[in-house]
Amino acid sequence: MILKLSNGQNLPVEMHKARMVQKVELVPVGQRLKAIQEAGYNTFQLKTKDIFLDMLTDSGVNAMSDNQFAAFIKTDDAYAGSMTFYEFADAVKEILGYEYVMNVHQGRAAEHLLSKVFGKPDGVIITNYHFTTTKAHIEVTAGSECLELYTDEALKTKSTHPFKGNMDIQKLEEAIRQHGKHKVGYVRMEATTNLLGGQPFSMENLKAVRKVCDENGLLLVIDGSLISENAYFIWKREEGYENKTVAEIVKEMCALADIFYLSGRKNTCVRGGFIATNDRELFGKIEPWLPVYEGFFTYGGMSMREIGAMAVGLREMVDPSVAGCAIEQIQYFVEKLDAMGIPVVTPPGGLACHVDAKKFLPHVPKEQYIAGALTAALYISSGVRAMERGTISMDRDREGREVYADLELTRIALPRRVYTISQIEYIIDRLNWLYQHRELIKGLKFISEPPVLRFFLGKLDALDNWGRELSEAFKRDFGGTW
Ligand code: F0G
Repeated sequence: MILKLSNGQNLPVEMHKARMVQKVELVPVGQRLKAIQEAGYNTFQLKTKDIFLDMLTDSGVNAMSDNQFAAFIKTDDAYAGSMTFYEFADAVKEILGYEYVMNVHQGRAAEHLLSKVFGKPDGVIITNYHFTTTKAHIEVTAGSECLELYTDEALKTKSTHPFKGNMDIQKLEEAIRQHGKHKVGYVRMEATTNLLGGQPFSMENLKAVRKVCDENGLLLVIDGSLISENAYFIWKREEGYENKTVAEIVKEMCALADIFYLSGRKNTCVRGGFIATNDRELFGKIEPWLPVYEGFFTYGGMSMREIGAMAVGLREMVDPSVAGCAIEQIQYFVEKLDAMGIPVVTPPGGLACHVDAKKFLPHVPKEQYIAGALTAALYISSGVRAMERGTISMDRDREGREVYADLELTRIALPRRVYTISQIEYIIDRLNWLYQHRELIKGLKFISEPPVLRFFLGKLDALDNWGRELSEAFKRDFGGTW
């Protein structure tokens, strides 16, 4: 909750208290250098023993509530027909308004099933922006092209536009005309757009997309992995929604979609996912594949415990103090960096503080993986693990050519209810130090490169061994090792 201080400043104050904690270590800079070298300058390859603040992702690492842990204990474990599943289905109906639901083991499993069932070989799936696993399933599972119809504002990292996750309606109409509606598998709206920096779309835009889908007989799918954050932004930023609740806004969004899916690892603070709809026929098309790829109908590859905790998480995520807890910290983080002249994505979005690596490192050419270099440099100088969201996160095209990302971002994720403002202040300081020493950071080159989702397992090396120079500069300035 944002509280106003007596000096007029706004402070995001946590509306929860820590009742169980995990100790973290900050290893010396020399060890950090060694760790990132061994990790092939890829933060996915680091081990947590070498990480101080783990801000790789907000996925599966949010703090659960006491009531979620209580649900773990009350779980009805059964291979088939568990009452925990039916209680979960009641929560889906109550919070999202959907009659039919099936669990899957995580978000990408939903993407797999939807691509398999509704994707068309040599067709297209249209989205406001892709996510890595979504694109992989659209291309690999469906054999379709992933068409991203974002607005011109979306790629401007410095902006005041409140809804950079909007779909461009004119481009949508043109694309349907150009490809033919029979070629379109479905239209997908990602709430919020992860790779654009957690940027939301407006209700007005969603309604306009719905209208075009209706006119053309197309399915509208919402990826609601971060739906409560998108709803929170609509509440804060869209005219006419200031007097609605986050819960009402979530329901209104859901009512506009034919199919809804999510990764439950984010807003519901557990590990799992699901697909939901009010259309029995659509549900029936996906249903037969569930036990083939995921598991029996009443668990879908998830543990019953997680399903029980997910039901609680769904009800909790529409509480504004939960929906807004990461958003408020991110706003604080982003506004401070912005005021210091450090290039960040604005307006602040959900899920993470995103640093614009292209502007941070203008001397590094795009062929040398700008965001990958900055992400590794942040780890060396702080022990903070962030994630590269740039060209390394894109795969090569069918001809093996590099596909350069629209944006080169270092994503510093804020798992919900995990980190504090003093830890964020520490990162702000180290990012500022890094910005003052940015000329020491050079590019990266691949030394081993997997063919798909290469960012997970790929290994790279620092050109001219710049990591060493950076760590030496750090030791000089901080007079020691931390
Ligand atoms: N859709 C969105 C919008 C996501 O952010 C993610 C995952 C997925 C789908 C896939 O879900 O991981 O449960 O299979 N995002 C994570 C991240 C991985 O770090 O942003 P999943």
